Amino acid sequence: MSAEFDAIAAAPGRVNLLGEHTDYNDGFVLPVAITQRTRVAMRRNGTDGFSLHAVELGETVRFSFAEPPADHFASYVHGCLALAREQGAQVPGLDIEVRSEVPMGVGLSSSAALEVATLRCLRQLLDLPFDDVVVAQLAQRAEIEYAQVRCGIMDQMASSLAGTDRALLIDTRSLARRDVPLPAGSAVLVLDSGVARTLAGSGYNQRRSECEAAARTLGVASLRDVQRLEDIEALADDVLRRRARHVFTENARVLQAAECHDAAAFGELMNASHASLRDDYEVSTPELDRLVALLQQQDAVFGARLTGAGFGGACVALCRPDAIDDVSAVVLQKYNSPKHAGRQLVP
Ligand code: GLA
Repeated sequence: MSAEFDAIAAAPGRVNLLGEHTDYNDGFVLPVAITQRTRVAMRRNGTDGFSLHAVELGETVRFSFAEPPADHFASYVHGCLALAREQGAQVPGLDIEVRSEVPMGVGLSSSAALEVATLRCLRQLLDLPFDDVVVAQLAQRAEIEYAQVRCGIMDQMASSLAGTDRALLIDTRSLARRDVPLPAGSAVLVLDSGVARTLAGSGYNQRRSECEAAARTLGVASLRDVQRLEDIEALADDVLRRRARHVFTENARVLQAAECHDAAAFGELMNASHASLRDDYEVSTPELDRLVALLQQQDAVFGARLTGAGFGGACVALCRPDAIDDVSAVVLQKYNSPKHAGRQLVP
């Protein structure tokens, strides 16, 4: 640890392989951590305020519990500090430094990495009794209550608990989880569409409300509890029917993928997930559709789909490990245009 700081901690971003928009419906997700991480360092500053410096953004934001930050990025950190205090932690004034390798705004959970790294750093500094699940739960609350994004718990659970070499199957209702190895002979490739995505301003919260409305109409606590697809097909409202159908079929795909050790079969489930996100859930964009189609056309690609919330951002593909570089180069060369510049994010 650097002598300059009293505590330093890091947390990774994540890429979700399958199970999109299922977490806030109490469903199943299958994310894997990425190697890019966010590091947070803290030093007691002897005041009752916070000075937050984001190295990559070249920005410093000052705030206190009495005067919360207006800045969106600082609100994640503020939320974590405030929630730790609410849990009984004696949070002192701090100089906080953030360095992040996790690409922002593309669907790789840079905000969850920041929240989890902040809570880990605070846990280390103050010797807090938070386990990794509690860290994920507080991180999710920071995002909902302080950054005003009504997210599920996938990103924070993945950042807090997933490894980079195997996926983590999470039941987002019970938070039960288990490791799922990637199918033999496959590796993960993530390409950014080069089209930015804004989560809070997008249809994310709207989708969530539509799912709640569908669940109410079906008379269940959440869409996780629907037992038969026929009940969904009988919904009169076309939008609610399609939203619910996506969640139902996506949960089934996650559970199937977790049991299947064959890369080709896993890839088919990813392709089906993309079609469902595009047609039923309507969170894809023309650029994501094009990038996914180009990936799916490659012989060395088992399957591809948009990843994260959608509305822009990145795609994930399951690919033959020896072909990753070629696939990435060929696809990006076909995709890139004066209007948008895609790029490889993982590996
Ligand atoms: C964002 C949210 C997650 C999840 C995904 C969609 O990443 O933060 O909770 O809902 O979108 O699967």
